[in-house]
Amino acid sequence: MRKLLIAGNWKMNLVLAEAKSLTGDILSQMERFGDALDFLIIPPYTLLHPLAPAVWGTKLALGAQDLHWEPSGAFTSGISTAMLKDAGCSFVLVGHSERRDHFKDTDAALAMKLRAAIANRVTPIYCIGEHLEDREAGRTEAVLTHQFNTVLKGLAADQIQNCLLAYEPVWAIGTGKTATPEMAQETQCFIRNLLVSEFGEDTAASTRILYGGSVKPENAKELMGQPDIDGALIGGASLTADSFIGIAAAANS
Ligand code: PGA
Repeated sequence: MRKLLIAGNWKMNLVLAEAKSLTGDILSQMERFGDALDFLIIPPYTLLHPLAPAVWGTKLALGAQDLHWEPSGAFTSGISTAMLKDAGCSFVLVGHSERRDHFKDTDAALAMKLRAAIANRVTPIYCIGEHLEDREAGRTEAVLTHQFNTVLKGLAADQIQNCLLAYEPVWAIGTGKTATPEMAQETQCFIRNLLVSEFGEDTAASTRILYGGSVKPENAKELMGQPDIDGALIGGASLTADSFIGIAAAANS
């Protein structure tokens, strides 16, 4: 059974006072779900250390938006896995489309980031997704297969077991356009079949695949009711406790 993960990617938003208040609100509103759902917030780097004491010992996990694959050294602006763990992170995004598009993260860099995260026991959430022109040209499956193969192929079964995937159609991120539940399900089933071919049935069945792209309380129930959607990676709607918890409530209903 794959437990749903409700993950909030705060992107480049919020300063400390806002972040503390949002975290406090999420923590108090999360209680009613007991163990039914997993929760994760993914704030910008500067908020990780100060938020860590608030989430320590709670069911709200802390994650980072990116990492550097080297353990230390002359990599100005880089943040290593040791630094992430020191700041209380147990998850890290790898390959978010904004990293790929705006920061030009390459497939080779993403493969190194993912392996560094796994080796140092920070759970990577590997993000894949097609642009609108890919979908319109019928290239969705080819794009996803490329993103899958260049980064995940060759991992051992025990390595992939420590990863999550997130399917985020780029045209649905921050645009208010969501993939229909059927479209998301069909694509996520395709991704799970890539996992089956590469890593076998058992690993594919236990790997969580999140959906991301304009998830909100109004569409969360239908999306997360799909058999191959194991949670949500939420951007805009994760910035208020009401909508973040509203998504959790819809998913759990
Ligand atoms: P969005 O972002 O919910 O604002 O579309 C999702 C994401 O980029 O992870």
